[in-house]
Amino acid sequence: MKIDILTLFPNMFDSFFKESIIKRAIENNKVEINVIDFREYSKDPHKKVDDTPYGGGAGMVLTCQPIFDCVNSIRTPESKVIILTPSGKLYKQETAYDLSKESHLIIICGHYEGFDERILSLADLQLSIGDYVLTGGEIPALVLVDSITRLIDGVITKESHENDSFNNNLLDYPTYTKPADYNGMKVPEVLISGDHKKIDEYRKQEQIRKTKENRPDLLK
Ligand code: ADE
Repeated sequence: MKIDILTLFPNMFDSFFKESIIKRAIENNKVEINVIDFREYSKDPHKKVDDTPYGGGAGMVLTCQPIFDCVNSIRTPESKVIILTPSGKLYKQETAYDLSKESHLIIICGHYEGFDERILSLADLQLSIGDYVLTGGEIPALVLVDSITRLIDGVITKESHENDSFNNNLLDYPTYTKPADYNGMKVPEVLISGDHKKIDEYRKQEQIRKTKENRPDLLK
């Protein structure tokens, strides 16, 4: 998969892609990630990319020309264009699974007060990562890249994400490792029993218990 990220702050991405699973996915050619500074596409003599809003109001608004020119120069019929905005649809694991099957994602990060509304016509998908407002789309872009890349075939084992939280609308079951007794806090007996049928049942019950406790909305 190829992922192009359009941003005004390319340096924000540097270290993230050089560590851990994403680094390995890049090295193993499972994903190619390009960070593009869309200011370079501005035809303004001062490389301006924003302007004041029509009708008045606070802040600056990203203008059409640099983003349209940038997207139109890199998109192909296979590309999926995603705009990150707090006004988008809520991003969920299900969408991460769908997007992990695509061959080319173009992710557009906003900044300042937002996008000229006409820029939204470029998007196949407008996504928000949660009900809060960030200073820009860079952290949401990292959230997308991370959650999608780990689901690309061959990046981590299928087993590693089979029981992820949110699959089947349930949170993940609790896990433990050695020692079996840490300062009097003991690992549940069943996990040491070697009885795999019982372990499966215990884990399912724990998934339901945790979901009821932390995310009852998922069970509705
Ligand atoms: N830009 C600013 N806040 C955002 C959010 N919550 N999701 C996506 N993009 C954003």
